[in-house]
Amino acid sequence: MDQKDAATGLPREWQNAGIMNDAVLSPPPVGTPGGPKVLLEVFGCQMNKLDAELVVTALKRAGYDFTDDDDEAAAVLLVTCAIRDQAEHRVHSHLGELAVAKRSRPDLAVGVLGCQAQREGQDLLTRWPSLDFVAGTRDFGKVAKLLDQVRADRTRVLSIEGIADEVSEQRDVTVRPHRGRAFVNVMRGCDKPCTYCVVPRTRGAEVSRSMVDVVTEVEELVADGVKEVTLLGQTVNAWGRHEGHSLGELLHRLEDIDDLHRVRFITSHPEEMDDTLVSAIAACRKSGLFLHLPPQSGSSRMLRRMARGYTNERYREIIAQLRERIPGIEIGGDIIVGFSGETDEDFEATVDLLRDVRFSQSYIFRYSPRPGTPAFGRLEDDVPDKVKRKRLKILNEIQTEIMRERHEALIGTRHEVLVEGSSRKDARRLFGRNLAFDRLVFEGESSWEGQFVTLEVTGATPLTLSAKVLAEPTDAPRDTTLARTT
Ligand code: SAH
Ligand code: SF4
Ligand code: F3S
Repeated sequence: MDQKDAATGLPREWQNAGIMNDAVLSPPPVGTPGGPKVLLEVFGCQMNKLDAELVVTALKRAGYDFTDDDDEAAAVLLVTCAIRDQAEHRVHSHLGELAVAKRSRPDLAVGVLGCQAQREGQDLLTRWPSLDFVAGTRDFGKVAKLLDQVRADRTRVLSIEGIADEVSEQRDVTVRPHRGRAFVNVMRGCDKPCTYCVVPRTRGAEVSRSMVDVVTEVEELVADGVKEVTLLGQTVNAWGRHEGHSLGELLHRLEDIDDLHRVRFITSHPEEMDDTLVSAIAACRKSGLFLHLPPQSGSSRMLRRMARGYTNERYREIIAQLRERIPGIEIGGDIIVGFSGETDEDFEATVDLLRDVRFSQSYIFRYSPRPGTPAFGRLEDDVPDKVKRKRLKILNEIQTEIMRERHEALIGTRHEVLVEGSSRKDARRLFGRNLAFDRLVFEGESSWEGQFVTLEVTGATPLTLSAKVLAEPTDAPRDTTLARTT
């Protein structure tokens, strides 16, 4: 718990264990040996990680290789996030360092891709003469070509497609960081009016992929060894609503794919929760028992100012229904503290919500005003930073305590996890997740990655569950009811 993230105050370990992540791809993917080396740094949410996979595919095809060493990189590409000022700020300081590096290595190519690129566009090129190209959120497919171009003739390129353009997935399903699991984009963009949020401006309007496209991609992934898919969308539970489909229907359809064993999906929006989805999660054996359902605040007044479309009471009602109808379901939440006009009383309502709902994990953020959002310039950023920090700290402490209690109560229980990988430092130290998205750490062989293992929890801290292996790893879950009932 040593290193903390400045934006959230959360331990880095926690950040990397959960839904959000920011890092150099580690280990770097294998490309064309001997080809020019690319260092790819990915910030932001899982959508960015999946988009980075698209970039990796294209770069491999174009003959590039990859590295995590600054000094041997021929190109540095930053896949960026615009959600908070801090995220963008970090990229600017990185570009500052790269500008210095380029003085002694003028051949180094530097590109900025993704949400911040979409938002800042030309301004990035103007501010950083050392930057070679900028590519927006609908331009990931062109990155290899852009890189070839800037390396060949040292031109500087801005490539920002209109974000209203059609979704075209050009995925090579065999290219992915993990053998046993994969992300699948089921929709792009977002149509919600949340007043604080930049995503509709960086990712465009909500567009769902068709049922047949999604199912075909999942089938191809499964044929290539994938056992768990995570369906991605900013409001994933609204998937297919304009086409007469629903996520519940998709879960049922995926349930029929042999050799696919788990289906997760993030992120759900409380306003879009419906009965069909709740029944589908309860009925589908393969469905994860974890719902990332961010409340953002426990105060109905703040929720109105945020334009979230539900009240505190409604949110609590949804949670109560979920718990009643789906035994073992766990809820993850995001919360914003210090949004415009947040009083002590509003904050106390969020404290109450956190204590009552008992999220299995939550990400708590300080409000960061974003240019171009409905709140920007209209709803004053009037909560002092000191107060935001204090509120963040209080909520993180409550959440940590809840996790401690929750984890301690799991000691002695049995779980079946899909092995996700091993610790970089010690290959025998493995980790995996149960259906409820709890991360368990245990001793085993690194060759177990992508297999299912039955474990018993033996130790607990707020952030980690340690476990011992009860049975040899298997290719398919032994007992699909096990994780559903613990
Ligand atoms: N589509 C998802 C969340 C996407 S952004 C949803 O609606 O829940 C991930 C999280 O970042 C949000 O849940 C919110 O808690 C946080 N966030 C978004 N905009 C922010 C801002 N301007 N300042 C601070 N946190 C923000
Ligand atoms: Fe942003 Fe709201 Fe859309 Fe989530 S639902 S991406 S918070 S606008
Ligand atoms: Fe994701 Fe950040 Fe963009 S959260 S959608 S990478 S603004």
